[in-house]
Amino acid sequence: MSTYHNYKPFELPQLIWPVKMGKEMGVYFYLEPVAALRGGRVVVEGRGEMIMLSSYSYLGLLGHPEIEKEAKQAIEKFSTGCHGVRLLAGTLTIHNELEKQIAKFKWTDDAIVYSSGYVANVSSISTLVKRNDFVICDKLNHASIVDGCVLSGAKFLRFRHNDMDHLEKILKKLNSGANKLVVVDAVFSMDGDIINLPVISKLCRKYGALLMVDEAHSLGVLGKRGHGVEEHFGLSPGAIDIKMGTLSKTIPSVGGYIAGSTKLIELLKHQSRGFIYSAALPPAQVGAAIAALKVIENEPERIEILHKNISHFKKAIEHLGFNTLKSESAIIPIICGETETAMEMAKLCQDEGLFVQAIPHPVVPKGTARLRCIITAAHTREDIDYSINVILKAGQKTGVISQRSKAGHKM
Ligand SMILES: Cc1ncc(COP(=O)(O)O)c(C=O)c1O
Repeated sequence: MSTYHNYKPFELPQLIWPVKMGKEMGVYFYLEPVAALRGGRVVVEGRGEMIMLSSYSYLGLLGHPEIEKEAKQAIEKFSTGCHGVRLLAGTLTIHNELEKQIAKFKWTDDAIVYSSGYVANVSSISTLVKRNDFVICDKLNHASIVDGCVLSGAKFLRFRHNDMDHLEKILKKLNSGANKLVVVDAVFSMDGDIINLPVISKLCRKYGALLMVDEAHSLGVLGKRGHGVEEHFGLSPGAIDIKMGTLSKTIPSVGGYIAGSTKLIELLKHQSRGFIYSAALPPAQVGAAIAALKVIENEPERIEILHKNISHFKKAIEHLGFNTLKSESAIIPIICGETETAMEMAKLCQDEGLFVQAIPHPVVPKGTARLRCIITAAHTREDIDYSINVILKAGQKTGVISQRSKAGHKM
């Protein structure tokens, strides 16, 4: 019996995520425990082996022997934790090595690592802008950017998704002497499309704003050598002032980083609260991240495979009549409409062995609930073709696409 039985100081807020509906419909598929990795597949407790279409391990680096080896060596050398926060006693030689390597990978002077990508965004944005400054965001930016903007106390403005005319209108109206920070995702995590970096970078220069770009879903994915969004557009590394990324997606570890000028990194290392007041990244995770960056450089064929897999899946899915918005990345949404339809569609796919999830309203705008498919370099062509056919049948059964798409996908 709970000791909290008669203790009720206030009502908890209402749950926004449609948990009750999902459970009542028998389609709840979140917090599903994975018991083992098998390349592009996973073993799921109580379900068996499934094709993993929800993984952020874009280059299939989870399970890479070199990365595991370096993580184990870091534990052997430094043990499982640090002596505290980085600024005081928690800095290890490998933290500095990792930061140097990130800076080199992103063509900047220096870098700082935080305990997660979420912390990197919240902590850096709230350090960089203050009450009388302006922070300007794309409407579809990730929640961690939004939280950083709110916490900063700066005037928080938003422009329509990837709409450069709207951004320019906003910038034009602001006092030219005011501090302005523009923050965007490189790849948007629910739509999979890419920010118009060439134009946004020019606008920031024209109106004297700093530009910060979140590369959570573009590092290792965009560009021929996986260096990210500048490489994708063939722009100079100076196109972005503040380069943010995570160590938990393509890089199979945990943590977040900001790369930029020496002055910027020095400021963040001595003033951003998520760095100063929170423990250092543990050795194993640092070792894994260092090794992963080397693997990305040494195994460019993984990026080529990823690009081919994405193109094959996306072309086939669009050919069958599904709406994938303007996705140009490994994140390929399949628009289903209402939340119930997306959940039903996901359930049909899960029952046929696909680990794929429905993204409901209000996480995405009403009427655009979706199946969110993520393609990685770890997928085999057979598994991708099988997945396409399962999605086709589920789409027909739920009415997301017409029954006429009967031809099926040729393997
Ligand atoms: C665009 C974006 N930024 C930041 C983060 C946060 O990164 P982390 O999971 O490393 O905290 C995420 C996480 O999914 C993300 O999608």
